[in-house]
Amino acid sequence: MRGKLVLVMVGLPARGKSTMAKKLGRTLEFDGIRVRIFNNGELRRRLDTGEDNSSSEFFSPSNERGKELRERISQINIEQAQAFFREGGNVAIMDASNVTRARRRRLAEAFPDIPLCYIECLNADEEALEANLERKARLKEFRHLTTEQALESFVKRIKYYESIYEPLDTEANRILVDSFDNCILQVQITDILPYYDRIRDVITTRVVRNLFLVRHGETLFNREDRIGGDSELTDKGQAQANSLAEHFATVRIPIIFTSNYIRTLQTASPISERQDSCSIIALPEFNEIHAGVCEGMTYEEIRRNMPHVARARGPNKYRYIYPDGEGYKTMEDRVHRGLKKVFFLNNYDENIMIVGHRAVNRMILSSFLTRQEEEIPYIYMPQDRYYHIQIDPHKRLFELVPY
Ligand code: F6P
Repeated sequence: MRGKLVLVMVGLPARGKSTMAKKLGRTLEFDGIRVRIFNNGELRRRLDTGEDNSSSEFFSPSNERGKELRERISQINIEQAQAFFREGGNVAIMDASNVTRARRRRLAEAFPDIPLCYIECLNADEEALEANLERKARLKEFRHLTTEQALESFVKRIKYYESIYEPLDTEANRILVDSFDNCILQVQITDILPYYDRIRDVITTRVVRNLFLVRHGETLFNREDRIGGDSELTDKGQAQANSLAEHFATVRIPIIFTSNYIRTLQTASPISERQDSCSIIALPEFNEIHAGVCEGMTYEEIRRNMPHVARARGPNKYRYIYPDGEGYKTMEDRVHRGLKKVFFLNNYDENIMIVGHRAVNRMILSSFLTRQEEEIPYIYMPQDRYYHIQIDPHKRLFELVPY
């Protein structure tokens, strides 16, 4: 018989708890473990409590009715988790903020014979947090508010949670996780916990269900073989974007991540329009390599007018840095940071789409491959095909798909 375990998520809103819970849930399930997530927020949004249970005031510590309702929601999920264990379940993930000692005590009392392990999520990255708040402000829950009002309400909700946050201290088993960096900051484990090694692995591993890595459609600069710049799509590029939209019409894409450049936004736009609900998030981390003094030139012009650049870059393309610009090597940190943002903001959805550029996409792809650095600047990155990437503990797929 397999062991039983309760995983209790802890943390302020928007710290990546649900993303981490889903990642743990789906990966453990894949190993044949019976897992279920009990999410208080989802239950609250589904329940008709007779008032606006998304308003910031619902979460005020002085709102007695709000408090009572939130405890009732927690109790419903506890009872469902108890039933799940009685029916042979292995791992229950209690996904809620669980920031007070009283709440955590009630959870511990509800499962007297099953070990509990708390997973506290922190995210010290201000920019990622801000982007996550903006994403949340656009959710259905806030559709009756403007984005600014929704943001304000969510920030206030977080403040209320901050005011009642009691740190974990007496809990026997706890793991403190940086949910942006996917790393474990602190661990204290006193009991023997089933699946513990696997859980540690999952927390720190990047699992990619479906990443669609697309290069933008043809631009005026591409046609003239010019590098850099911020030019628009040609008619052919626009047609490529429309074919992509057609191709992905039956695949759910909740967010498309792009760079700040027009060409990626113009490529993403028809794709997002064909979806039921899809937002575009532009990340500066995915802007194309900046060619410095060579921006806007053709490769031929560089060879002719700046032969020293062409001579130096040729044999050492990965490490070469354009005068006043960037090189592949100097893009590493920002592109990896962009990828972390993608995985943090995507809420562990099955499908992720990135519309990027030739050099940026090579860097993104190479972060999943074991390639020699000198090969990276030559990875094939066409404009009429995209990479479909799948990575989990059992599979690694990199497939070029025509559209
Ligand atoms: O030509 C398109 C482009 O995206 C340029 O903006 C960029 O400088 C170049 O590709 C990167 O490719 P390479 O490193 O092979 O020059």
